[in-house]
Amino acid sequence: MTGPKWLATSVGYEIYPRSFYDSDGDGVGDIKGILEKIDYLSYLGVNLLWVGPFYPSPLDDNGYDVSDFKNVDPRLGTLADIKQLIDECHRRDIRILFDYVMNQTSDEHPWFIESRSSLDNKKRDYYIWSKKPNNWGSFFGGSAWNYDAQSGEYYLKIFSNKMPDINWSNPQLRQEMFDIAQFWLDLGVDGFRMDAIAHLGKDMSLTHSRKKSEGGISYDWSKFSNREVLYDYLAELKSKVFDHFDMVSIGEVGGGAKLPDAYKYTKTIDMVFNFDAVWCLNKDGSVNVPQLREVINYWTQGMIKKKQLLPQYWQNHDHPRLMSQYGNPAKPKASGKMLATILLFLYGVPFLYNGEEIGMTNADYQKLEDFRDVSSQNYIQMHQDSLSEADILAHLAKNSRDHGHLPMQWSNKKHAGFSQKTPYLKVNGNYKTVNVESQMADVDSLLNYYRTCIDLRINSQYSDVLTMGDFKLVETDSNEIFGYQRENKDMIITVLANMHDKTVSYQLGDDNLILNNLESHTPGQLDPYQSIVMVRQK
Ligand code: GLC
Repeated sequence: MTGPKWLATSVGYEIYPRSFYDSDGDGVGDIKGILEKIDYLSYLGVNLLWVGPFYPSPLDDNGYDVSDFKNVDPRLGTLADIKQLIDECHRRDIRILFDYVMNQTSDEHPWFIESRSSLDNKKRDYYIWSKKPNNWGSFFGGSAWNYDAQSGEYYLKIFSNKMPDINWSNPQLRQEMFDIAQFWLDLGVDGFRMDAIAHLGKDMSLTHSRKKSEGGISYDWSKFSNREVLYDYLAELKSKVFDHFDMVSIGEVGGGAKLPDAYKYTKTIDMVFNFDAVWCLNKDGSVNVPQLREVINYWTQGMIKKKQLLPQYWQNHDHPRLMSQYGNPAKPKASGKMLATILLFLYGVPFLYNGEEIGMTNADYQKLEDFRDVSSQNYIQMHQDSLSEADILAHLAKNSRDHGHLPMQWSNKKHAGFSQKTPYLKVNGNYKTVNVESQMADVDSLLNYYRTCIDLRINSQYSDVLTMGDFKLVETDSNEIFGYQRENKDMIITVLANMHDKTVSYQLGDDNLILNNLESHTPGQLDPYQSIVMVRQK
């Protein structure tokens, strides 16, 4: 089995530090803010935190553009705060992971400042330079190359202009990156979510892509995704650093990776995050349940076959809010609880994203300037001449990454109880009804339902089957029902969930009901958004 022993019984929770809780009243969440809310995490019951980037950064890409890898952004706190956060987590039996940003630095990182200073600078080769750009496109739109007037060449940047890609084929650069991992592990962190690792290996011949191009640009990710050479880099990282710690390594391998790639990754790292379950939508916006069943089954069975774990999640900081994507904000309790049920009893390691447990929704922004994310801004720029403002807003309302960055809604007080001051990103108007405080006070709330599910998963008589048991889909041609079974030598747990807003029937015998997200249950039938969990002892 992958990773350290504790991994299989972990329930993860991603925190986006700038938007979690502002302890010092400057409108931005901070490390002390996480410390102030740490008992909330114990109350929720999660035991594995993933804390997003808190490193010094000019914030072109929400902190993924790092200008100093071994430090803390002074707006967010100090190294002492981070050490305290690690210790306070450990005191509560919570493990903690940091983002390890491996594909790029900020253009304000000292390495890049040196690299661009002259063609023969000793750090020139820490980045990928070319006299002429090729036709590769960037993930954030436009060319993957940016001209540097200072040295008269182009540098590769597959994300934003301010995020030059580093050159992993340079051994000295690799050693610098390994030292960064070592630094945080020495401080006590329990591992990493490894950002964008799919892209560490590039086609260093830098030849044009032959794939179809739009306006001279070819969005051909194969030139810098899941390329063989990166597995050597990861193997080196493992033997030099990771092997010496009781830690977990989870790589973000994105959309292009499939099981054959995942098997290569998991030779050196513990688990991989793929994106396949995030965008399973029908044209009318409803959940494409057959597609969702298929991708979750594909990944789950594929990893079980190799006795590996996998992270399971609905959304992260790059995605729309779960309630708006797969739930129904008009029926938040039923739909939110249904989504919690499916996720929290799957095989693997479920990860929640902060705010998911209270059913936070996409932002209600009505003005283009409220959208701040670099990919939203690029989208606006690229489409402002061809699309109407209403069309751009409609696109962003569904797809923008800003939704994931919304300040956490703690209470119905001013600024959603997130900060004393106007937050750096506008809070969602629905905080008066959707917030932690009111859901703590309501036994039947979505938040309390998440707590129940987490408790069932890791602290109950069903924990063994729910964490370690086999996984099999309930065979169905239904367009609405997501059903699966978990089984061990003692029992079979069946989870049946209706993901749509209509009543449906199912053909399975009923076992003992142990959880129901609605008040009643008619055997053979699931009401809109109903989910049930049943057990049969063997
Ligand atoms: C990952 C992060 C995303 C970031 C990108 C570049 O995909 O999740 O937020 O923009 O890498 O670091």
